[in-house]
Amino acid sequence: MEPTEYMGTPPPPRQTNQSLDVVILAAGLGTRMKSARAKVLHALDGSPLIAYVCRAARALTPEQIYVVVGHQAAEVEKAVRNEVEDLAQFVTQSEQRGTGDAVMAARGQLEGEDSLVLILSGDVPMIRSETLQNFVTHHRSSGAACSILSVRLENPTGYGRIVRDDQEQFVKIIEQKDATPEERKVKEINSGIYCFDARKLFSALTRVTPSNNQGEFYLTDTPEVLLADGETVNIYVHADAREVSGINTRAELAEFENLMRRGTIRRLMVETGVTFIDPSHAYISAEAKLGRDCIIYPGVSIEGNSVVGENCEIRSGTRITNSRLGDNVVVKDHSVIVDSIIESKCTVGPFAHLRMNSVLEESSAVGNFVEMKKSRLGRGSKSMHLTYLGDATIGERTNIGAGTITCNYDGKNKHETIVEDEVKIGSDTMLVAPVRVGKGSVTAAGSVVTKDVPPETLVAGVPAVIKKKLKNSDES
Ligand code: UD1
Ligand code: CA
Repeated sequence: MEPTEYMGTPPPPRQTNQSLDVVILAAGLGTRMKSARAKVLHALDGSPLIAYVCRAARALTPEQIYVVVGHQAAEVEKAVRNEVEDLAQFVTQSEQRGTGDAVMAARGQLEGEDSLVLILSGDVPMIRSETLQNFVTHHRSSGAACSILSVRLENPTGYGRIVRDDQEQFVKIIEQKDATPEERKVKEINSGIYCFDARKLFSALTRVTPSNNQGEFYLTDTPEVLLADGETVNIYVHADAREVSGINTRAELAEFENLMRRGTIRRLMVETGVTFIDPSHAYISAEAKLGRDCIIYPGVSIEGNSVVGENCEIRSGTRITNSRLGDNVVVKDHSVIVDSIIESKCTVGPFAHLRMNSVLEESSAVGNFVEMKKSRLGRGSKSMHLTYLGDATIGERTNIGAGTITCNYDGKNKHETIVEDEVKIGSDTMLVAPVRVGKGSVTAAGSVVTKDVPPETLVAGVPAVIKKKLKNSDES
């Protein structure tokens, strides 16, 4: 085995050897959202708010991420596990009695630790891991018992204010609801992001009382308590206020959604070379990838981790979710493509619906009002009108006539349909699965095919019977 020590770039020196733990507060309902759903579960660009905070926390490689849960705990835990399964530990705050009380829920796990605790809120999704890293590094070198990340806001309404003395030294945090008119004028606000020495944090928290306007245990009272103990409290002023804005209302959520979307679309236009006919009316997830020279019409949604190749044209009203498109694909208006693959040079729609791992092989086409579920359409094949293909595998250069239905469900189980290469399925054919239509065969209009059809055979009728063998010689 090769020795790995002392190879490559050495890690940066650490100022203290305290390990890092993260606590994310996510127990509140978020009454200002006017929702039955916990605030941190509301989605921004397709992911719950808490997912963003988890991703930022994970990048710091902490020992553990403690998540304080209460409202809809099971759902919140699921959303967290989705992001940081291996690092997550859940602690329950059964009654939401304030942010201080929320942190107290993790007392049993953290009180005795010689660790550094970074506290984050589950409703602050734009926070970048680089910012948190710089904040933690700064805290480590400051020797303070507590650091508070602050920003200056033109409109600080609603936030806790940072009160400083004449020497600009920290005095206290005062909440909007408890502040005097003079204090409300302060533009420097508490972001709700803190670093604490674990032991000092809990020593101070046990002395916090709910003697305020809301009758809550405020985490924001702990720095003042530590100051009175003779400890140092350090303020870290961050320049980008937007990054630490909490989402409290649906209007704020919509603003962030808009902001993210505009950023994504701008990047796709400027860096990738995608044309948007109307950039303010396209919805592309930040995760999605589009190739150059794509043209996106108004009202298109491309969601999740979808990938669209080069030179594709996506017409109005189309939704593409977690799907993969090759190059030179045309998707006409109002098509829905979910969890599916469309290879290069295919056309889809208008009004097509592809779902559950459907695959269009190269140069194939599905048209008006065609639904495909768990089905594959071979190279160069076509299904252009009013058709359902479920659990079906269609070969190459085959034509599926208008109104064809795969009858894949017998009331209990789903069955497969196989149509081989170079078949002509006549209009209004019912393919009663399980069934196979052999290579080069033809079904007449209105056939109900209940039995396998051999290759090069014409069938017709209800139920379909063999009418004649087709000559192979017409190829010459
Ligand atoms: C808090 C700060 C405020 C700061 C602002 C920044 C306090 C008292 N105030 O106010 O100074 O400017 O954040 O965004 O801390 N939570 C729980 N349990 C509770 C209460 C809250 O888990 O009992 C969680 C919430 O789910 C949320 C986070 O703590 O994720 C913040 O709570 P929120 O009610 O939004 O606090 P703010 O009023 O915004
Ligand atoms: Ca908040």
